Amino acid sequence: MPKLFATLLLALLASAAAGQVAAAADAANGETLARRWCAACHIVSADQTSGSTQTAPFSAIGRRSNFDAAQLALFLLAPHPAMPDMGLSRGEAADIAAYIATLK
Ligand code: HEC
Repeated sequence: MPKLFATLLLALLASAAAGQVAAAADAANGETLARRWCAACHIVSADQTSGSTQTAPFSAIGRRSNFDAAQLALFLLAPHPAMPDMGLSRGEAADIAAYIATLK
């Protein structure tokens, strides 16, 4: 039943995009979000050549010895002065943290 499968898959993708899936964090979605919301200032991936010089590249953050994805996700939920409040959902924050964790 390929049609039913496609419908289910679409529904799953839609809810994942809305950050409503409570399941394990999705690093691939986190990468999409990071490229969309963070790349204006941060270097979010190896193929990105320019960003603001005042911010830490995500790869450097992921490499820190005290890096903790759960802590980072929490940090991302609270706006802080230099960064705009992006209104990330818990799921989105967890996905971005999971993505950054893969950049070591
Ligand atoms: C408008 C520019 C801007 C955008 C967009 C932005 N940031 Fe930032 N971010 C900053 C600046 C500037 C700092 C350093 C400010 C500070 O330390 O208070 C920072 C700091 C951080 C830090 C802490 C860095 C460290 O060294 O510990 C993290 C983590 C971070 N940003 C993640 C993100 C994520 C994830 C996104 C996208 C969802 C994002 N930022 C979007 C400007 C931005």
